[in-house]
Amino acid sequence: MAALINLTPFRLHSTSIPKHQSRSFTVRCAKSSYNITLLPGDGIGPEVISVAKNVLNLAGSLEGIEFKFKEMPMGGAALDLTGVPLPEETLSTAKQSDAVLLGAIGGYKWDKNEKHLKPETGLLQLRAGLKVFANLRPASVLPQLVDASTLKKEVAEGVDLMVVRELTGGIYFGKPRGFGTNENGEEIGYNTEVYAAYEVDRIARIAFETARKRGGKLCSVDKANVLEASMFWRKRVIAIAEEYPDVELTHMYVDNAAMQLVRNPKQFDTIVTNNIFGDILSDEASMITGSIGMLPSASLGESGPGLFEPIHGSAPDIAGQDKANPLATILSAAMLLKYGLGEVKAAERIELAVLNTLDRGFRTGDIYSDGNKLVGCKEMGEQVLKSVDKKTPASV
Ligand code: IPM
Ligand code: MG
Repeated sequence: MAALINLTPFRLHSTSIPKHQSRSFTVRCAKSSYNITLLPGDGIGPEVISVAKNVLNLAGSLEGIEFKFKEMPMGGAALDLTGVPLPEETLSTAKQSDAVLLGAIGGYKWDKNEKHLKPETGLLQLRAGLKVFANLRPASVLPQLVDASTLKKEVAEGVDLMVVRELTGGIYFGKPRGFGTNENGEEIGYNTEVYAAYEVDRIARIAFETARKRGGKLCSVDKANVLEASMFWRKRVIAIAEEYPDVELTHMYVDNAAMQLVRNPKQFDTIVTNNIFGDILSDEASMITGSIGMLPSASLGESGPGLFEPIHGSAPDIAGQDKANPLATILSAAMLLKYGLGEVKAAERIELAVLNTLDRGFRTGDIYSDGNKLVGCKEMGEQVLKSVDKKTPASV
């Protein structure tokens, strides 16, 4: 079987396993119960979350795991309901739970809102509030979907890479930032790219750990030929590399990395990069796999719940039409089980079920090719449930 997400579970630091997680390890034979915060959000978010919830429930029940779900408003939905994109109650519920599963946020309706009233601002507040600084974005080309890639088959086939994106620092959060006027009285907008040593060190360690459990190769992407913040990034990554002599470290400028990703993506195993470069490169990497509708992500901190979300957006153009691909959210639920709760078996059930569903020819519009069965979001969910509901994981 092709490894869907080529990663064995890992802990950020063995000493920092949240209490509920260590408990779940010690009482593994007893029934585990977890509190999950669901943040459906906007657009296709509610559709894909409702499907993923059913899949989580079934895969969990087959492994003796029980979930208690609490659904909270977030993004545009929260703006309409409460006037802010991340209500305090949503953040506190999320903080108190074992893991958070988010659908998608944003939509035309709120696009012109002032910055503090944008759905995206709520997402950044949620990431900062949960202190989830490490964003793992895997991109693997599944054999079943190799024809869905816009790249030539020989370029796309077998790609299996992981982007480790720094998520709570850099230009997204750096100060000073804002609007103003320059010395000529002209209007300006400005932001600051800034990283402290501890921020680079901790994301570098996560990336080295990740690379060690994958192909043993780490490529750090920066713009150290121009930016001081990148020169500093590179210096810290090199310093941390001493702790990981078994991992092969290379460095690449971001413009070259963007080019190499479409020229020869198989050269990459694990990529580590800052917040903004990671945002851009992970979208690019996703397209190698055929559809952004396939890719999950995990955002982890040193302790506390992780945040799990598909990397696609809210797709307002197809919202409410039962056309969305729920697989990225279903696979995010698998990452939630694996990285968030350490429930590897239940996670594997879901991964295998997704592969089995694809093997049986079911496709949403975004990954459809001739000879397959075109289905909507709900039907895709039903088919994944059918594949999960087997005594032993389906062989593919
Ligand atoms: C992502 C998104 C977000 C980001 C937006 C919605 C704030 O593009 O998760 O990649 O820029 O991080
Ligand atoms: Mg993005």
